[in-house]
Amino acid sequence: MSVNKTQDYYRYQPIDLMTEYTICESLSSLNSPYMAALKNPRSYGSIVGKRLQEEDILRGGCRICEVGGGYGSLMKGLLEEYSSSVDKVFMTDLSMFLLKKQRETLKRWGSKVTFINGDIAEIVHLFAGMDVIIFNEMMGDLDTWRIADGKNLPREIEAFVGRYELEIPTEGSFNFNYGALKVVEALCKVGTKAFIAEHSSDPVIPGTMEYLGKGLASGGFPREIRLKGHSEFTIRFSHLVTVARALGRNITTGSLIDLVGVADTNKMRFIFLSRASATDEQEIIYELLDHIREYRWLIIK
Ligand SMILES: C[S@@+](CC[C@H](N)C(=O)[O-])C[C@H]1O[C@@H](n2cnc3c(N)ncnc32)[C@H](O)[C@@H]1O
Repeated sequence: MSVNKTQDYYRYQPIDLMTEYTICESLSSLNSPYMAALKNPRSYGSIVGKRLQEEDILRGGCRICEVGGGYGSLMKGLLEEYSSSVDKVFMTDLSMFLLKKQRETLKRWGSKVTFINGDIAEIVHLFAGMDVIIFNEMMGDLDTWRIADGKNLPREIEAFVGRYELEIPTEGSFNFNYGALKVVEALCKVGTKAFIAEHSSDPVIPGTMEYLGKGLASGGFPREIRLKGHSEFTIRFSHLVTVARALGRNITTGSLIDLVGVADTNKMRFIFLSRASATDEQEIIYELLDHIREYRWLIIK
């Protein structure tokens, strides 16, 4: 058994998010070529803000914490549209390098935004007073345990799995998002709401775009994604949901395809099914569709 950890990578390396493909960066501005795939082009931050407003989480005087905000693009998009409803923002990150980038991106909002350097696994309980904590594409970086045999669980995992009656394989090896589950458990216990988006090991495909499920593994356990200098893992959302519900919280969840509003057109279907790449636009759309179909979002209230 081993544990995948990314703390040293984020603490000590100058991070280049362009070597990873994040949906947030791809849809960070209306000038992005990826906007060609959306019904109503809007920045990702504005999309998340709108959803939080519809859930009655983002409203006057709102206090938001964003964990692992990368270059600050999500929060920039959110504040560009909703800053009048936001009282305070706390950008929390393990990487001093990325906090510096976030400070530059968000400088226009001055003292509304505070920057905190820390490991969320150790400090999540300190955000009990927030209206919402945003975790965008960062849960997969938290500790993931590679379990060698489902019949022989480490005692700590056995206790956690038993407490929430989590479904796991009864034999053979699998990966377990223990770091993400502990963070969700902690925020549910202190009563904080959360928005989470990440690659999932149990994706959901919108009924009208079933073709996007072609060749996509679903219902599985977390998969390792090897990246420059570190690995991250897909998240088993059904486990997060089970823990949140067991702690008395309400949840809504869905596909990022629906959240961002990928255009449900024959052109999209053609590009995806034929892997069309005759033009730059087709190539970009194919890349986005192939990537986004694995993503889910979850709101815990
Ligand atoms: C893959 S990047 C995602 C960046 C951005 N949210 C996006 O969607 O483009 C992961 C982010 O989480 C931060 N991070 C990773 N582990 C963390 C931890 N344990 N505590 C706080 N921040 C962490 C990284 O420094 C980085 O900002």
